Amino acid sequence: MSNLNTLYHKPELILSGQRKVLGEVTWQSPSNIALVKYWGKHGNQLPMNPSLSFTLNNSYTETTVKYRNSENGFKFSFFLEGKHKAGFEKKLNIFFDKIKEIFPFLKQLELGIFSKNTFPHSSGIASSASGMSALSLCLCSIEKKLFDLKYNEDEFLRKASYISRIGSGSASRSVYGKLASWGKSKLLQSSSDYFSSDLSTILHPSFLNYQDSIILISKGEKEVSSSAGHSLMNNHPFASARFAQANSNFIKIVEVLNNGNLDEFQAIVENEALSLHALMMSSSPGYFLIEPDTLKAIKSIVLFRKRTKLPICFTLDAGPNIHLLYPESYKTQVREFIEKELLNLDSRIEVIYDSIGKGPIMIKES
Ligand code: PMV
Repeated sequence: MSNLNTLYHKPELILSGQRKVLGEVTWQSPSNIALVKYWGKHGNQLPMNPSLSFTLNNSYTETTVKYRNSENGFKFSFFLEGKHKAGFEKKLNIFFDKIKEIFPFLKQLELGIFSKNTFPHSSGIASSASGMSALSLCLCSIEKKLFDLKYNEDEFLRKASYISRIGSGSASRSVYGKLASWGKSKLLQSSSDYFSSDLSTILHPSFLNYQDSIILISKGEKEVSSSAGHSLMNNHPFASARFAQANSNFIKIVEVLNNGNLDEFQAIVENEALSLHALMMSSSPGYFLIEPDTLKAIKSIVLFRKRTKLPICFTLDAGPNIHLLYPESYKTQVREFIEKELLNLDSRIEVIYDSIGKGPIMIKES
């Protein structure tokens, strides 16, 4: 599939001499929560194992890219919630450098990038997934418009997923609604390390409108970036066992998502969450991203499940916050539990109620 690079590298996509361009495009793109985790990468942001996620509904980034001709090569500025963010520009520079051969016309443009999130910054919701996918969708729309490309929807989204992946691996999955996988698995012929695949059609009705209540244990900045975390997998003593485990969990969970076995679902999802954090703790150097309240909340969730027999389970991203997953039909009981028990563990704990969502939408193009 490395010839995809060649496929997407189009040196002819250059604006002709006097052509004046001016326009803007806006996309909303959601975050996602991985059920089988991507942890460890190689090459240009390629995963060491396949991963799979639910796409969220309420937690999304809305990005507008305004563009016009540039006299002096590629230029951009980045604004988050209306404020200029030089720190983010450094990170985006790396991304733009990596995609300059795919979008050669960028060196003729000046971009203003305006982003806002529906969730608090540093809340532990993957803003890189929603942010990088929203920006990549905007760039693909600009390319399509400027050069009148005839991509169908599948081709457009695949390219947006490919570009998103270069920005942030997990972002490649946000391009698709409900359920998306990323990374080659022997189970799915069409799967690829280069872009994600839409798996929404396999979902058993039990998973439709599945709820994700995000328990915000701590809103601080992470001590270790996900890039640093991925790189610690390079020399990790358990790396090969982990990649084998992820491949096997991937195959099992695809079956479970299709047959609706919620007990099996819980076992795999929690095994993935705990394995991810165990890998962090057993890295060299080792580190914790969970907090004491994370463990208290997990214990409380497990006791609640024993007591009520409700099919709820937890997962964790690379941080202390807990994603509580459950069918929509148990919303009332679970919300009561969250508000009476989990929020009472500490006054700083907050909750964001989310659920599986439809995927990105284009808001405007002119
Ligand atoms: O996409 P990144 O580089 O931020 O890595 C994401 C890693 C996890 O969120 C921990 C797992 C995943 O698959 O989303």
